[in-house]
Amino acid sequence: MERELALEIVRVTEAAALASAQWMGRGKKNEADDAATTAMRKMFDSVNMDGIVVIGEGELDEAPMLYIGERLGTKMGPKVDIAVDPLEGTNIVAKGHNNAMAVIAVADKGTLLHAPDMYMQKIAVGKNAAGKINLDDPIEKTIEIVAEANNKRIQDLTVIIQERDRHDDLIERVRLKGARVKLFGDGDVGASIATALPHTGVDLFVGTGGAPEGVISAAAIKALGGDMQARLVPQTLEEEERCIAMGLKDPRQLLMLTDLVSGDDAIFAATGVSSGELLDGVRFLGGDLVETHSIVMRSKTKTVRYITAHHHLEHKPHLVMV
Ligand code: FBP
Repeated sequence: MERELALEIVRVTEAAALASAQWMGRGKKNEADDAATTAMRKMFDSVNMDGIVVIGEGELDEAPMLYIGERLGTKMGPKVDIAVDPLEGTNIVAKGHNNAMAVIAVADKGTLLHAPDMYMQKIAVGKNAAGKINLDDPIEKTIEIVAEANNKRIQDLTVIIQERDRHDDLIERVRLKGARVKLFGDGDVGASIATALPHTGVDLFVGTGGAPEGVISAAAIKALGGDMQARLVPQTLEEEERCIAMGLKDPRQLLMLTDLVSGDDAIFAATGVSSGELLDGVRFLGGDLVETHSIVMRSKTKTVRYITAHHHLEHKPHLVMV
């Protein structure tokens, strides 16, 4: 992939964030998601690449845009796999909460796991604990390993977990072991990536969330030198069959970071819609001025860029204002 692609991809997440941020706090999650998807789809037309959506808004019959298998870009550039989540945290935006982002991962063709839309059990850490974790270890052992790797007392270790009933037992065990639990409502892409960014103070991410989000997070964690493991959690026979159809002989096999993102060249870009672990959200500064905050990284070079952009709405004729 050419390096310009990383910056082009940020323009796409910026467009999605600008569009969906207008729906903040309006109680309309579908409208917020549609706005992000439409803006993202439109902006992809100008990117020099020959991309195929491998993780998107659904199958062809479920999604009019950014459906799995859709070809994106000018078809002039590199052949790539594209994983999108135009609005990670649809409920967040509806409720006006923190932590919503527009996210994209792009990687060489054939290198992103084609994860179906089902649950996935996940664990993620930063680079100090990379290579030392195992999803199948008891959480108490994992906490000891990560505390030692990060040179912290267990009391000072922060484990980030999505606030869901299915995690009640996990949360209790982490607290009993003496570590801190940071709960979040929605948006496990940002939460898992936070483990690989030292300034967040988050040491360990564990829990079960969406599989598509898992693959997108893996692209970022790889670029940051962190580590992640996962396991799909098919809940019906149909979900089992979908895993097998996508090439996993054992749907419950332990997936390593290299199974989630198998190549060495992946780009991850995100723009904050509302402020969160990783990024500040879209700020409407008055008049037609709007500020966005993005992060873009590439696993090949490990460069991480934070980009603050000022946009003038008068020059964004395609942006549909609410
Ligand atoms: P959406 O943006 O699709 O609403 O996803 C938000 C999210 O919190 C993800 O980050 C997470 O992986 C998933 O939902 C968890 O699913 P559930 O809400 O069913 O527990």
